[in-house]
Amino acid sequence: MKIIITVGKGGVGKTTTAASLGIALRDRGYSVLVVSLDPAHNLGDVLNLKSRSGKVKVLDNYEIIEVDVDEAVRKYLDEVSLMIKSTFKHLSVLNIDKYIDILSNAPGVEEHALMSEFKRIIEENDDKDFIIFDMPPTGLSLRILSLPFIHKSWLMELKNLRKAILDRRRMLKNIGEELGDVPIDESSDPVMRELDNMLKECEFLIGKLTSRDTMCILVLAPETLPLLEAERAFRKLSSLGISVRGCVVNKVLKLREHVPELKSKIEEQERCLNEIKKVFKDMTIVEVPFLEQEPRGVDALRRYANYIDSLVDLVLRS
Ligand SMILES: Nc1ncnc2c1ncn2[C@@H]1O[C@H](COP(=O)(O)OP(=O)(O)OP(=O)(O)O)[C@@H](O)[C@H]1O
Ligand SMILES: [Mg+2]
Repeated sequence: MKIIITVGKGGVGKTTTAASLGIALRDRGYSVLVVSLDPAHNLGDVLNLKSRSGKVKVLDNYEIIEVDVDEAVRKYLDEVSLMIKSTFKHLSVLNIDKYIDILSNAPGVEEHALMSEFKRIIEENDDKDFIIFDMPPTGLSLRILSLPFIHKSWLMELKNLRKAILDRRRMLKNIGEELGDVPIDESSDPVMRELDNMLKECEFLIGKLTSRDTMCILVLAPETLPLLEAERAFRKLSSLGISVRGCVVNKVLKLREHVPELKSKIEEQERCLNEIKKVFKDMTIVEVPFLEQEPRGVDALRRYANYIDSLVDLVLRS
């Protein structure tokens, strides 16, 4: 199973590219699942769907999921609450539910919940040839994708702290201190066990994200701000070890005749196109023109796919 992730600034065409690439792969005989992890979903709109809850079959071998973010947050908090209650049974004097309530509004919960969904979806759909993740705009995408890496370094530190606590307990016990029923060894400590479980989950995700079978595709418009944002995303993803091999330059204006009002726009576009070829020289770069009609619905997305043909080849090759 291969994973493809579309990343880029808001409105540049991530969802359109994800949906269209999925159709192209499906038309070549592969089974494809396209997943929107964007809280502001429009994957269903791009495909002109009416019914869109849960997994929706659009064509044979082509399904989509729009992750319900509120539901994902609720599920994530339930799991956390269960884990805390079973790990800290001896602290039942604390009102854990109160902390869970606070946690539900804590910064980062949405990112955690979406990363949990990412994991669940790849585990539950490993029979698919391709899972394509349509991501939210760059900032949130990078926060979601960095999470397992940040989480791992926190967990390593927490494990060190927990080891130090257990060491102290053992020392106190050795000098005859009465500690009651608290664990003193790593093997019998539920907190250490939970930290190890969480570490395993992070390593699973890091393994998936940095695998040869996973690639990000940058989507951008030939304009300065989307380009700067794509460069930053490329640097960040590369520093995490996530491969970025393809680049879609979308909404390229191709004018049949000279339009004076668009002169500076066209100049900016030319400058950006040259810069893109320089900065992303090791990637497969495809250009999609600004289309007269928004590419919505299966047929229009198939026409869009003609422009990203070499990206389809890249995905199949790698
Ligand atoms: N080549 C194109 N020509 C004309 N319109 C396009 C083209 N590509 C995409 N669009 C239109 O641009 C709008 C934004 O596209 P899309 O939703 O795919 O972008 P996005 O990057 O996913 O946006 P968001 O960040 O809001 O999720 C849509 O209305 C889409 O139909
Ligand atoms: Mg989108």
